[in-house]
Amino acid sequence: MGNFCYICLSVTSHYHIMKLYTGKDINKLTELIPANSGVFAIIDNKVEDYFSAMKNWKIFPLRALESSKTLGTAAHICSWLMENKADRDCFIIGAGGGVTTDLAGFVASVYKRGVRFGLVPTTLLSSADAALGGKNGVNHLRVKNMIGTITQPEWVFQSPVFFRTLQRRVFTEGIAEMLKTFLIFSPDLYAFCVSFFKSYNHRNPSEKEERLLERLVRECARLKMEVVKKDERDHGERMVLNLGHTFAHALEGWAAANHRKILHGEAVAAGIVASAKAAAIMGICPKSLASELSEDFHSVGLKTSFGVSFSKIFNTMQQDKKASGEILTLILPLGIGNVARYLITASDLRKACGRLVI
Ligand SMILES: NC(=O)c1ccc[n+]([C@@H]2O[C@H](COP(=O)([O-])OP(=O)(O)OC[C@H]3O[C@@H](n4cnc5c(N)ncnc54)[C@H](O)[C@@H]3O)[C@@H](O)[C@H]2O)c1
Repeated sequence: MGNFCYICLSVTSHYHIMKLYTGKDINKLTELIPANSGVFAIIDNKVEDYFSAMKNWKIFPLRALESSKTLGTAAHICSWLMENKADRDCFIIGAGGGVTTDLAGFVASVYKRGVRFGLVPTTLLSSADAALGGKNGVNHLRVKNMIGTITQPEWVFQSPVFFRTLQRRVFTEGIAEMLKTFLIFSPDLYAFCVSFFKSYNHRNPSEKEERLLERLVRECARLKMEVVKKDERDHGERMVLNLGHTFAHALEGWAAANHRKILHGEAVAAGIVASAKAAAIMGICPKSLASELSEDFHSVGLKTSFGVSFSKIFNTMQQDKKASGEILTLILPLGIGNVARYLITASDLRKACGRLVI
């Protein structure tokens, strides 16, 4: 297998084993396709060239935009599958950033009531986060991921080779989700990551640096899947992964409504800092934490504020999927390596955060 390695991550509730493959040789993907299955690949049109050797795949080239992560696009892909006679034994591949892997996973989990699928994340963000954990979905009425499923792919194939062609801004937003995971679970890896990314040149990394990045992404995936396998349906422990996300999703909703471009990872960085500020206002973490995190995020190229006042995103925050009636569930940082789930009424949240600018 050469430098192609895999780890099994079992999600016990479904007796399902998701295999995580990592390696530089993209052609190894052909070994992962089940025998006698037609392959239908939904591929981000910016990465199609990487797959030019896959002559037997039927390809749906996707123009991956957050605004195209919709039921309409999912229905369009289903029509294409039907036209191309994809049967229940077909194998779907989603290759691209988080928009593509979320959409492809969603289509695979509903087409003919569900067919087998594998994901090939090609952004840092989708490799370290979006393609892992089985959450698939689309946005609806400007609310992020409002319609979706939790279905695990058979495998995820990660390769750092894809990152070399990413725009700087897209590469950098991926760092935010990695820092989030390490901030929750591993202060040592968090600190290591901050210093590693300060000088990482993603377009022209040395062999050694790229190998290190591959290991960091794999470690990030392992930490995420450890918690996913304990709480696949996201009713308890898994919620910690939403650190910063209630603010982030609301900020993304605001951006979509106001024709502003804020990438998911950028919103997550701002959301984490906003959560630290909220936690300090509530007296559950030191005031210095927000500035410490802000400094770390800036040092790797991430902005932490978009100048949006809390009142502009408050209504969208109330539509968060984790909200139950008047009560919102926030994941708040108490320190590096220490986060807590916090239930708060919408009116108390408004009182506490009314003056925040995110
Ligand atoms: N399912 C989950 O658990 C989960 C977790 C986090 C984020 N997400 C979702 O992921 C999405 C964000 O993902 P993303 O940041 O990867 O965005 P994306 O899919 O929009 O990709 C960003 C840009 O990079 C381009 N691109 C992709 N791979 C490339 C490559 N190798 N070289 C050059 N360009 C490339 C894409 O065409 C796009 O323009 C959001 O919709 C978010 O909600 C899902």
